[in-house]
Amino acid sequence: MTQSRREFMSLSAKAALLALGMNAGLPTGLFAAAKTTGFDSPLPLPGGSGLYGLLAPKGNVALMATKVPGLLPATGAPMLAYAATQGGKTFQNPVLVLRKGQQFNATLVNMLPEPTIIHWHGVDGPWRQAGHPSYAVGPGESYDYSFPVTNRAGTYWYHPHPHGLTAKQSYYGLSSFFIVRDAEEEAFAKELDLRLGVNDIPVVLQDKRFTPDGQLDYSPSMEDLLMGYLGGSVLANGALRPTMKVATRLYRFRVLNGSTARLYNLAFVQGGKALPFVLVGNDGGFLPAPQRLTEVFLAPGERVDVLLDLRALAPGQEVFLQNLPFDPMHNEMGGMMGGMMGGGMGGGTGGGHESGGHGALGEGDSYPIARLLVERKQTYDRKIPAKLPALAQPASGGPVRPIALAMRHMGGWTINGLTYAMGEAPIVVKKRGLETWQIHNPEASMPHPMHLHGYFYRVLERRGSPAQVRSRAVDGQGRLATDLGFKDTVLVWPGETVSLSIDFRTPNYPGEQLFLFHCHNLEHEDQGMMLNVRVL
Ligand code: C2O
Ligand code: CU
Ligand code: CU
Repeated sequence: MTQSRREFMSLSAKAALLALGMNAGLPTGLFAAAKTTGFDSPLPLPGGSGLYGLLAPKGNVALMATKVPGLLPATGAPMLAYAATQGGKTFQNPVLVLRKGQQFNATLVNMLPEPTIIHWHGVDGPWRQAGHPSYAVGPGESYDYSFPVTNRAGTYWYHPHPHGLTAKQSYYGLSSFFIVRDAEEEAFAKELDLRLGVNDIPVVLQDKRFTPDGQLDYSPSMEDLLMGYLGGSVLANGALRPTMKVATRLYRFRVLNGSTARLYNLAFVQGGKALPFVLVGNDGGFLPAPQRLTEVFLAPGERVDVLLDLRALAPGQEVFLQNLPFDPMHNEMGGMMGGMMGGGMGGGTGGGHESGGHGALGEGDSYPIARLLVERKQTYDRKIPAKLPALAQPASGGPVRPIALAMRHMGGWTINGLTYAMGEAPIVVKKRGLETWQIHNPEASMPHPMHLHGYFYRVLERRGSPAQVRSRAVDGQGRLATDLGFKDTVLVWPGETVSLSIDFRTPNYPGEQLFLFHCHNLEHEDQGMMLNVRVL
């Protein structure tokens, strides 16, 4: 409680700087009109250098984890970043752009005062290349990576993974995109006249708390560690309420939820209406077919690849990337707290809860994140293909492995009753073949985005879904549009049982492997909601 009050006051004091127009003043109805002031900074777009600059590695890239003064677009505060140079240009948190089949060589140089290691999230690679926490290197040390890029085209990412420090280091800025391209994806982009950094825009969403002088503040209370650390300001590519100037054409946004804990229900809102958009990809690249949507849940670690058609708009019109109301389902205290803390669908309490250190902005509140401002007309006559690059859909089957998520009696989250122990591997895949994992999250719980390293999976079925999830099902298995295709992170809502099909034969890593399965709520992960997975 004190935390969020402190933040509220500090933000008020910094009104000129942060121009938040706190959510307390926002109407709580569905599609609440976005507050249209304060959108005067540009959305940082990946360019040829600098923060989130596009870097196609030529030879080995050195990524130096370090504190960079003045880097955070929102307040000019220092932030942690991976600093790199290539061809005389300097980058911070470069958006790495790779081609399928190419060799990737990188060296992490740890300039932090504590251990760190880079994990390539969603990127195929044997476990020694994947950033297991047992490989964390100390201050002044480095770690070499070298592996071929075998993923299909898609939007992957990278972030720190030292045990117990993942949330903090990510929060202070360490993370960026790892984009893989291949011939099919390049043909798709050409067909739609999409260019990375111009009209194909990677956007990372992260919520932050600030100290009175605009510094990033990561100081979770016990309650924050239990539920996740929420910030009162949601940044897009590090900027608060930024604007991107657009033309009347098609845009592609690759949206990554890089927050430690916050869930989003994203929409593109214009004049009080959610515009339709087309979901073409998720964690594992292209979906089997395009999906037309008006809103989409995005949990920490997940990515969506969407196309937004702005042809019907006129210069001067605005579209807001906005969070729409939903029930964040914080039912961890048996539902009693849920009503108090969750805000709830269309409830009168959507103005944010200062309880629970949840920050001043509730997950289920209606709030704008970024603005698209139509600046000019453009003739554009390309059509979204009805088919996307082919996706092999392997058979499912094999042994069923039940995975139970639960809260321990004295607090803290467990998987199959266990928390992380570096030297133990409670999940052993004895025979490399198909397995079905059935993840169950009890009613008296909260949503957990569950992530597996090393292998993609397919979502087979959702059972017991809450109404706000069930209503979005696209098939008889209760799956959501974002469940189609390949996933590496799946949100399991309270009450749900989600079945996954994992094929441990592909990739065919040489020798025994030790991967991780964990909750991508990074406070949960650091508190031990993670297990080693040994693949024999
Ligand atoms: Cu993105 Cu093990 O994490
Ligand atoms: Cu990962
Ligand atoms: Cu969790």
